Amino acid sequence: MSDPLILTVPLFSDLGNLGLALRRSVFVGEQHVPPEEEFDSYDLTATHVVALLDGSVVGCLRILFLAEHVKFGRVVVAATARGQGIASRMMRYAMDLAAARGQTRFYLTAQSDKLALYEKLGFVAFGEEFQDGGMPHFAMKTY
Ligand SMILES: CC(C)(COP(=O)(O)OP(=O)(O)OC[C@H]1O[C@@H](n2cnc3c(N)ncnc32)[C@H](O)[C@@H]1OP(=O)(O)O)[C@@H](O)C(=O)NCCC(=O)NCCS
Repeated sequence: MSDPLILTVPLFSDLGNLGLALRRSVFVGEQHVPPEEEFDSYDLTATHVVALLDGSVVGCLRILFLAEHVKFGRVVVAATARGQGIASRMMRYAMDLAAARGQTRFYLTAQSDKLALYEKLGFVAFGEEFQDGGMPHFAMKTY
């Protein structure tokens, strides 16, 4: 199996649209997140990252450069491409990109059953569990 190609893409581009379609199919179709919550105004200013495997978009995430921290989110991998490290590679790419811009405060909110994905990247959960999009979450950050 070939390695994924990880790229930063404009939101309004063919690859950006394929990433959005993947997000919608997984978060809305698979996880039943309300569609009106899935795409939000942060998407317009976010940095969007996609993973390509054999020419197909199989993963994406977004990076928000906020005043208080860099927030990673909307991490998704197509069901057919899971379990081969693609989410971890996209996250490492995104963290490296933020670090190259001088950012050191990294933050995300993770579905409670997915904490291990981010713990392996150095994130630590903090605070109380909360509901988002109908699923339990924890806030996580790097120290
Ligand atoms: C969660 C998701 C992004 C993981 O993508 P992936 O490319 O399969 O993840 P990786 O292969 O990089 O996994 C790395 C580690 O994360 C953890 N992990 C991955 N998927 C997991 C899952 N479904 N449940 C719990 N832990 C998981 C494991 O510790 C894994 O390490 P291992 O392979 O040594 O067991 C993917 O399953 C997905 O898109 N799910 C639906 C959307 C979603 O839940 N997004 C995350 C919101 S926080």
